[in-house]
Amino acid sequence: MSDLKQALGEAASAAFAAEGVDAAFGRVTASDRPDLADFQCNGALAAAKAMRANPRELAAKVVDRLKGDARLASIEIAGPGFINFKLTDAALAGRAQAIADDARVGAETVAEPRRVVIDYGGPNVAKPMHVGHLRASIIGEALKRIFRFRGDTVWGDAHFGDWGFQMGLLIAVIEEEAASKGVSVDQVLETIDLDRLSEIYPAASARVKEDPAFRDLARQKTAKLQSGDEGYRAVWKRLHDISMVALTRDFDALGVHFDLWKGESDADPFIPAMVEDLKAKGLLEPDQGAMIVRVAREGDKRELPPLLVVSSEGSSMYGTTDVATIVERRQEQDPQLILYVVDARQSDHFEQVFRVAYLAGYAPEGSLEHLGFGTMNGPDGKPFKTRAGGVLKLGDLIEMARDKARARLREADLGSELPAEEFEATAHKVAVAALKFADLSNFRGTSYIFDLDRFTSFEGKTGPYLLYQAVRIKSLLRKARDEGHASGPIRIAEPAERDLALTLDAFETALEDAYDKRAPNYIAEHAYRLSQSFSKFYAACPVLAAPDGETRASRLRLAEATLAQLEQALQLLGIETPERM
Ligand code: ARG
Repeated sequence: MSDLKQALGEAASAAFAAEGVDAAFGRVTASDRPDLADFQCNGALAAAKAMRANPRELAAKVVDRLKGDARLASIEIAGPGFINFKLTDAALAGRAQAIADDARVGAETVAEPRRVVIDYGGPNVAKPMHVGHLRASIIGEALKRIFRFRGDTVWGDAHFGDWGFQMGLLIAVIEEEAASKGVSVDQVLETIDLDRLSEIYPAASARVKEDPAFRDLARQKTAKLQSGDEGYRAVWKRLHDISMVALTRDFDALGVHFDLWKGESDADPFIPAMVEDLKAKGLLEPDQGAMIVRVAREGDKRELPPLLVVSSEGSSMYGTTDVATIVERRQEQDPQLILYVVDARQSDHFEQVFRVAYLAGYAPEGSLEHLGFGTMNGPDGKPFKTRAGGVLKLGDLIEMARDKARARLREADLGSELPAEEFEATAHKVAVAALKFADLSNFRGTSYIFDLDRFTSFEGKTGPYLLYQAVRIKSLLRKARDEGHASGPIRIAEPAERDLALTLDAFETALEDAYDKRAPNYIAEHAYRLSQSFSKFYAACPVLAAPDGETRASRLRLAEATLAQLEQALQLLGIETPERM
């Protein structure tokens, strides 16, 4: 079952082909002038230009071929040669009915599903997650759901940052503390939780900058850990586990779930053979005691530095584990595509890693994509900080959003009859919807300003507004049930009903765009448009008080279809709707 836009496009393409013109000119899009038409085709202009023919004449021939199409109420040529399509009420009703009856609410799957790994979240041992990780988690989770819904086999992988220099640094600090207190390393470890770790880490990284001897010590510890020292591995494991438990709590609160909780350390066993292989392929070169792979290409606008694979201490670096992870994934998931949802500021890093992987034949050219995102900024336009100037912890941010959501609910006099526990759960859903929708309604590459007041408002283009609309439809449907009204076949007559049917039809295009451009904002935009279409419909077309039973049953079915599609769209964004408010 295809959407109307595609079905009309196929008919138009056939008409162009019958006129001896490339079928591709038959592409149909939503109308720029919804007051005049439902869909339009601009192909006659481009085709006539290429053929040096008259566009209106070509359009007239195409229109003649399409005139008999029973789905069309009218087909007209406008301006220099645009073709305008208006559908019959019956065609729209048929499509709305099909969407209402479809478990996929009108969305298609891809013809050839792929195996896809999405690397997102990217939390680090010993470092609490901050707002940068918020974006990686929200966008990555949405893309994972969108790709899966399109039919691909998808693994979401957290790619835990658990193997670099920070691990050696922590070990150095802990050993030092044990020595100064005259206790064992284990005894020190027992006193450590994520809060302590997150104090230790920034202090230690600051110290490294001033104290070269301490830095060298930490580097040695890193190399020793990576060379397989058992005692160090045990300390590492303990730090790893403490961090993971705490980070998982934040991810759970956000509704972010990974299929694989793998880390940089899991790539370690693949490194020795990979290094040998890079050597054998003539890609690895010595450079001042370290080993590098040159990745600059002719025609690069600026010189991309080589990837550092083995440091002069013999340790592996951020890029080393990334390349080795590609080797590991190839063995384990054999993905046709790997998407990296990581801050845009890491674009050089990924370009280096991808080029090494392509040069060495670990992944086919074009199968690795860095989906960079912009930053979430404070009112000053710089990456968001707390009032004290520090990075805001993700857990604190969620708590802040929940506080605000409670206040907003009370202010709007919503949820006051709910039992305390349900009120809390609803406030949590409102908070998560606010944060996620604010993020996902922008194209991922753009930065945006953190404004909790605006994000949590029940008015405007916000997550809470969408939840409110969904809850409103749920309560309408409950009321209908209570009054004994069932839904029935969809009939379309009013302009607001036409508009709602056309919006329901547009879900497939939004999903295709989101998938092809790896951009959840198309789904966010659709969810908002759908809510607005429904609002207009609800204002113009009484449902429970419809003029007759058949109209009421049809409108109830439209409401059901709208709710199902809205909830599906929100689900793809990782947003859950409450039953009531
Ligand atoms: N842990 C990294 C960070 O916090 C992000 C990891 C991204 N993924 C990757 N494969 N490098 O910056």
